[in-house]
Amino acid sequence: MHIGVIGTGYVGLVSGTCFAEFGIDVTCVDVNEDKIKRLNKGEIPIYEPGLDDLVEKQVKANRLFFTTNLPETVKKSDAVFIAVGTPPRKGDGHADLTYVYEAAREVARNLEGYTLIVTKSTVPVGTAREIERIVREENPQADFDVASNPEFLREGAAINDFLRPDRVVIGCDSERGRELMRRLYRPLFLNETPIVFTTPETSEITKYAANAFLATKITFINEIADLCEKANANVQDVAKAMGMDKRIGGKFLHAGPGYGGSCFPKDTLALTQIGHDYNAPQTLVERVVAVNTARQRQMARRIIAACGGSVEGKRIAILGVAFKPNTDDVRDAPSLVIIPELQLAGAEIAAYDPVAMDEAAHHLEQVIWCKDSYDAAKGADALVIITEWNEFRALNLDKLEEILNVKRIIDLRNIYKREEMRERGFHYVSIGKSDVLPAPAVAGLREVKTA
Ligand code: UDX
Ligand code: UDX
Repeated sequence: MHIGVIGTGYVGLVSGTCFAEFGIDVTCVDVNEDKIKRLNKGEIPIYEPGLDDLVEKQVKANRLFFTTNLPETVKKSDAVFIAVGTPPRKGDGHADLTYVYEAAREVARNLEGYTLIVTKSTVPVGTAREIERIVREENPQADFDVASNPEFLREGAAINDFLRPDRVVIGCDSERGRELMRRLYRPLFLNETPIVFTTPETSEITKYAANAFLATKITFINEIADLCEKANANVQDVAKAMGMDKRIGGKFLHAGPGYGGSCFPKDTLALTQIGHDYNAPQTLVERVVAVNTARQRQMARRIIAACGGSVEGKRIAILGVAFKPNTDDVRDAPSLVIIPELQLAGAEIAAYDPVAMDEAAHHLEQVIWCKDSYDAAKGADALVIITEWNEFRALNLDKLEEILNVKRIIDLRNIYKREEMRERGFHYVSIGKSDVLPAPAVAGLREVKTA
């Protein structure tokens, strides 16, 4: 079996490499010559833990190739996966399918023998049908089928999510196409990974519905966090107790500064557009988009309030600019909203992130990029944790006490315990817990039992 994968971004590169791990010959194609050159030199253009080793292993096994030559790749492939970007279209937030349809046209012109064309990118319902129409129009003699096979990869865990998925979803009407996909995913079949065979439309909607639901779950707990702060409750305890109900589950109930990344923001927006297109408005998801956008903005105001109402002329240290840990991706990261708002309010920003500073520097100005957490914290009037990288979970508090100008920590990911920080004398602000702590138990005062 030989497959072609068009697009070597987070989705295409991981998918191609993992299919090679399944023992399939894979050629990854990209329009970006520089990217292909770097890949052929063994350089991985994205940060994804474990990807460099896996790519090297597959290239050495002569199963994984990189090229800009799409026609040659299509001619020798039994299946061609389209994994090009589907960014939000300027202005209306629709998924921009330009790259997908361009790829489909080019594939159509080079089809030889039966070929299955598979959309791996997240695409609106109806895209597979549209690709079928495009290919038939470009090449009426072509012997092909189209399938939808959405990815459910989390950045930073993408290889694990591909090799050990909760399920594989395949939308394909033809038995021939389904048989070919069964052969591609055989290694998963053997370890009983559920493979859901359905229609292309159902598969396409499943992907959006899954992402939008996860984004909704996060936004739900973020609003509950706001209530907890006002009602002297603890959102982490609420989430834990809620999550013990198997119908709810404990995952994706961590309150924070709002979701970001290359998927949730664009997929929720695209789903609301799809709802309008099909006259089935997704009003709940529309609210999720609005609430999440406002939340990222609120975070800057929360930091300013914690600094006494003004950050004019103050140095604010920021820990973490990636949209989440274990990635260099800053697409729609809360930091890209929070930092400019603080600068607008007159703050000087010193920031550190283990891997995402280069990416972030393309989107932010006048930031002092630091070599580690303490370099950022030096002389700062507040230390703000935006991304929960593991290395921020065990900061040397003695050292921070020494170098911070003001012992203030604003923890947007609830990494630390309030009580511990208070005992250390820090002004500590977190998410979903009231900052008004019960008065310390003082002799003669009634003991206040807190959660
Ligand atoms: C993105 C979205 O994040 C994901 O939700 C969707 O499922 C697929 O598109 P990602 O891999 O992150 O996934 O895309 P991106 O990082 O934008 O990379 C796309 C790659 O395709 C780029 O390397 C780009 O050069 C390449 N490309 C783009 C082509 O090869 N041909 C094109 O015509 C356009
Ligand atoms: C997501 C989906 O998880 C994945 O299945 C899909 O294929 C692509 O989109 P990803 O965007 O890589 O993956 O990151 P994810 O780990 O889902 O986090 C998304 C955002 O939600 C991040 O900004 C993260 O900080 C935030 N988040 C996640 C929370 O705020 N709270 C949580 O409990 C979980």
